Amino acid sequence: NGRDYRGNMTFTSQGYPCQKWTSNYPNNITIDLTNELDGLGEHNFCRNPGGERERPWCYSLMTETEWGYCDLPLCSE
Ligand SMILES: *[C@@H]1O[C@H](CO)[C@@H](O)[C@H](O)[C@H]1NC(C)=O
Ligand SMILES: *[C@@H]1O[C@H](CO)[C@@H](O)[C@H](O)[C@H]1NC(C)=O
Repeated sequence: NGRDYRGNMTFTSQGYPCQKWTSNYPNNITIDLTNELDGLGEHNFCRNPGGERERPWCYSLMTETEWGYCDLPLCSE
């Protein structure tokens, strides 16, 4: 599910720029940013905190959409 993804992609697959995980605007991020397994921090890279979604995603800076998956392929299993 890409929880261990540590790349620097900063756009959703729709082309929206990602919001920094440490920012509360435009989305109020209530995810725990301190779990090292999630690789969150002072950046806006695509991540999958808690492995709770299908693949890495990010909050969107655009108000049209709250968040989006990033265009990262999953490994086939
Ligand atoms: C990814 O971002 C980190 C932190 O800003 C930086 O240290 C690293 O060089 C970047 N990696 C690439 C491939 O751009
Ligand atoms: C953001 O969410 C937290 C936790 O739900 C809440 O306490 C806080 O008031 C919210 N802040 C804004 C600006 O909505």
